[in-house]
Amino acid sequence: MSLEIVILAAGKGTRMKSSLPKVLHPLAGKSMLEWTIEAALKVGAEKVHVVIGHGAEQIQQAITIPQVNWVEQREQKGTGHAVAQALPHIAETSTVAVLYGDVPLISATTLQDLITRVGQQRLALLTANLQDPSGYGRIVRSEQGQVTAIVEQKDASAEQLAIDEINTGILAASGASLHRWLPALKADNAQGEYYLTDIVAMAVAEGHEVVVSQPASVLEIQGVNSRVQLQTLERALQQQRAQRLMEGGVTLADASRIDIRGDLRCASDVSIDVNCVFEGQVEIAEYCTIGPNCVLIDCKIERGAVIKANSIVEGSVVGADAVIGPFARLRPGTDLAEGVRIGNFVEVKKSSFAKGSKANHLSYIGDSTVGSEVNIGAGTITCNYDGVNKHQTVIGDKAFIGSNTALVAPVNVGAEATVGAGSTITGNIAEGELAVARAKQRNIEGWHRPTKKQS
Ligand code: UD1
Ligand code: CA
Repeated sequence: MSLEIVILAAGKGTRMKSSLPKVLHPLAGKSMLEWTIEAALKVGAEKVHVVIGHGAEQIQQAITIPQVNWVEQREQKGTGHAVAQALPHIAETSTVAVLYGDVPLISATTLQDLITRVGQQRLALLTANLQDPSGYGRIVRSEQGQVTAIVEQKDASAEQLAIDEINTGILAASGASLHRWLPALKADNAQGEYYLTDIVAMAVAEGHEVVVSQPASVLEIQGVNSRVQLQTLERALQQQRAQRLMEGGVTLADASRIDIRGDLRCASDVSIDVNCVFEGQVEIAEYCTIGPNCVLIDCKIERGAVIKANSIVEGSVVGADAVIGPFARLRPGTDLAEGVRIGNFVEVKKSSFAKGSKANHLSYIGDSTVGSEVNIGAGTITCNYDGVNKHQTVIGDKAFIGSNTALVAPVNVGAEATVGAGSTITGNIAEGELAVARAKQRNIEGWHRPTKKQS
């Protein structure tokens, strides 16, 4: 049987007080809706129907996952009505699970467990027992313990309100059953809505079995209605990620001051100081040290490298035992070999440095190929842009670039060449040559400083 997943995301999200639709608000760097869609794809959904209403256009523009089938719900008449909008796209022969765009952390494992329990005559609900069940629909069971219905908070009797088993909203059913039940829903309840939850009583009336499964963690079923709840979920998720890192052999200066907004993979004996942010795919090998306040985006840090305080590394490879920062910026396309040193206020873009080369202070190196054991003096600038096109700078092995040099690209500096400090280099320099391109010093003998005029 094929699996189809319906994700409800048509609600307004009034309490977010935002012009951005609620499900587009990010959790750990990814919109809540993307989290949910990814969970659906992980369990092998053949079709993912996302029901949208408020902010439909904005949502469709923001989410470009090709497997999504957008379904519009013009008026929000309840969860049952929302799923019914997707019904024309759903095969009778499929198994269907219902998720929510504002319940982002549902795991593939929990979802898979729920789905395996569904049958032609069996409806599966994801439930949880909560200390404070208020606000949720309650799971009503018979004396024999069979689930017989879900009652919404607003429709519940005092006795039912005392039930601590709640409906997470997530459920799975056969496509054929939904085709029978959804058109039969009625809105005769306290909220005047078509409740998806009423299919439970319908299933029971048809003699179907209602089975439940529970999530491994309550984080998985947490819905987000406000920015306070979003932040609470974000912190809980970050705490969990920090915990996993530490269990994997990483030292964190403070587990509550790290933000992983992508996929961070660390080998053991990596040490991370406070307030670092990781985005995209980041890989850090053994014995690396990341100083405080660093931002690492889509990069690879090789064994034993040190990234000192306040550095930003993006789209780069940092070689083994390299030392970066403090206050360095590596931009996309930077490839640094073993033992390279990039110091404070140095920006490197689309450039490679071979083994042991250094640019320790106040430089801009862009579109360059730097050989091994090169020393780039303070204040060196590669002038890579003529206002229209970008040009390359090539610096050979063991070259020495004096401080405050402008290398006007395209230009080649040969191996072991030396550039005098303060030079503006516009032509190639051959191997081993010294180039000095600056005004000659003039000393004036017998010169006197001006004296202050008497008034
Ligand atoms: C629902 C459940 C309740 C459960 C709770 C868990 C029903 C009737 N009740 O209640 O048993 O405990 O979730 O959080 O299902 N939505 C649409 N279109 C609509 C209505 C809702 O897309 O017409 C979406 C909303 O955007 C929201 C979700 O469905 O993301 C849940 O809707 P909401 O009205 O908040 O349901 P609850 O009252 O929380
Ligand atoms: Ca809700």
